[in-house]
Formats: sequence, structure tokens, C-alpha cells
Amino acid sequence: MRLADCHNVQDFRRLARQRLPDPIFHYIDGAADDELTKARNTKAFARCDLVPHVLAGVEHVDMRTTIMGRETALPLLLSPTALQRLFHWQGERAVARAAERAGLWFGISSLATVSLEEIGRTISSPKLFQLYAHKDEGLNRAMIAAAKAAQFDALALTVDTIVGGNRERCLRSGFTSPPKLTPSSALSFAMHPRWTVNYLCREKFELPNLSAHVAAGSNVAVSVADYLNNMLDQSLDWKKAERIRADWGGAFCLKGVMSVEDARRAVDIGATAIMLSNHGGRQLDGSRAPFDQLAEIMDAVGDRIEVICDGGVQRGTHVLKALSLGAKACSGGRLYLYALAAAGEAGVDRILTKFRAEIERDMKLMGVRSLAELGRANLRWR
Ligand code: LAC
Repeated sequence: MRLADCHNVQDFRRLARQRLPDPIFHYIDGAADDELTKARNTKAFARCDLVPHVLAGVEHVDMRTTIMGRETALPLLLSPTALQRLFHWQGERAVARAAERAGLWFGISSLATVSLEEIGRTISSPKLFQLYAHKDEGLNRAMIAAAKAAQFDALALTVDTIVGGNRERCLRSGFTSPPKLTPSSALSFAMHPRWTVNYLCREKFELPNLSAHVAAGSNVAVSVADYLNNMLDQSLDWKKAERIRADWGGAFCLKGVMSVEDARRAVDIGATAIMLSNHGGRQLDGSRAPFDQLAEIMDAVGDRIEVICDGGVQRGTHVLKALSLGAKACSGGRLYLYALAAAGEAGVDRILTKFRAEIERDMKLMGVRSLAELGRANLRWR
């Protein structure tokens, strides 16, 4: 299978599976417990159907919108994800450059493998920094200051990862950051020499936004669950979230809100946006899909906060369905991570080009010329 054979997210998933050692692939692809929520996130979009209009004069369609104050070419945001240089040696640099070329928002995780400073210096497209609130307040302050200095456009505070989810594929594979050679993983690394040579010979693996404060994850191998369980601030609450918003001072997003009550409180603490998200099913298995929850969230707070529907997105039609319910945009991690793992920057470019083409084609087939024309009248529920 080659890059030219990849036409959609699932094709890239297959190529990523070939190219990656098992522990790395399963870290991306895996989710919590029985992975019901991960599957549900995509299936939810099939709960309703689109009702198109015809003869609408769709020669030109406008796919642009404004998210958290910055214009974007598509209503699609690349969610922040951790450890990207493990998936491909180009890591966040490839994703950021591809997002910049496509005119899209992208996110950089606290657990990123390139520095905020470098991304700020080299990339002009709108970017958000995903903050994991650590027990170490000094580290939180340092990361917020670094994101400000690097002129990030928004801060997204992660609120669905108060402890690590139960990722059983990672338990089985022994996945750690940095990766460790174990008897069970050694064969898989040996069978993927291209990945292994890149990992060993390119720039040393590191989590530069954390490494001045913590050795775990950069110099000391830990599982992601242990990292999250030991390092993150489990006392994080609304008061602290509000303080973080005030310290940051710019556009502020809560990533991982799912309930109407919490969406209202996000408005109360002055958040600009919420990412309706269950962390790609990687945290609380059995939690509802963002798309299923979207209508009631929009009814409650849609006129007071921007709502981004995160997770399970694999098609242009998924984006159009979420926008029909009122979401400002969709976002996703795996949708570009498989492509990164499969083919680096060229892979991310290709999947973003595919998304652009799908959204444009689907708008034309729907008979809408601008995103504002999408509404609930476009949808029927099964
Ligand atoms: C994960 C975290 C680190 O889902 O975002 O693995």
C-alpha cells in the first residue's frame, strides 16, 4: 500500500499500521476499556441523514469560518495530540506546516515533542496550546508564559483527563514514553527498520515543554497512564479553571466538556469555546458521543459560546452534519495522525486536501453555498 492508495482516513489507518511498530500504532488507535465510545463517536454521525437541496447555483462555495477570532479555510481543526515525533520523525512540525498550508487551526499538546517557542516562531496559522494542568504550579505557569510568548491564539484546558484512561492495548504492548525495548516489542521494532532507524538516528526524543520540570516522559520511560495519574492535578476544579483563564488572558477553550451543566459553567467562567469531546474514547468508555450530545448543548449555550464537535470525524459529511446542528467546527486527532504516521508531512497534506475536497463537494451536493446555510432543516433522524 502506498500514499497514492490512501483516499480516506481508514486507508491511512491501514498504511499507518504497516509502517508503525505495534506499540506505537496501538497507542494511537487504541482507546479505553472495551473501546465502545471510540466506535460510537463515528457511528453517531449515521444516526441522522442529510436532506439536500438542488438547483441552488453552487458554482462557488464558501467554506471559510471564524473560530475563536481567527479565520480558517475550513470548519475543521486539528486537535492537539501528544508525542507526535514517535509517530513520524517529522512530528508536530509536519502537522503544523500542513495546517498552515491548508489555512487551518491546529493544536500543540503539553506533551508535544517540539517546543511552543519553535512552533510560534515558524508557523503563522492559528494555533492553540493544550494545557494539562499539572500538580506543579510552576510548570503550569511556565507553559502558559511560553504559549503567550510564542503568540498562540488560544489556550485549551484539558478537563476530561483528570486521571489516565484504561488503555488496555497499551498495557499489553508495554507502550511507554520514551519507548522501551521489551521482549514483546523488540520483534515489532526490528520488523519496522525504517521507523526504528529514524527514531534512533534523528533528533533525540524529548517533551521540550515539560522537560525542564519533569524527567518522566523525556528521560525516564513511563506509561502515559502513569504520567497522567502521577503528574496531573486531580484537584482541578472550576475555580482553578477560571484562574487559568485569567492568567492566560486570551481566547480560552475547555477541551472535554460533555454535559449541558458544564457547558453553562464554561460560559460563566468566560470561556470562548468548548470542545465537546470524550478524548477520542480514550478516557471514560461508555461516555456519550459528542455528536449525540451536540443538539442539547447548542440549545443551552449555542448563542453564548463557540462549540467545536471533537471526535470520530472521518468524512466531510460528518462535518456538515455537526454544522447543521450548530457546531462552529469539527475537530479530530486520529483523522490526521494516521496520515502523519503513514507518510509524514505528505500524508497530512493529502488527508487535509481530501477533507477540503469532500467538504466542498458535499456542500455542492447539499445545495449550500456557505456554511451559514446549514441548519437543522437539513437533517432527519432515523
Ligand atoms: C492521550 C493523551 C496524552 O490521549 O492526550 O494519550
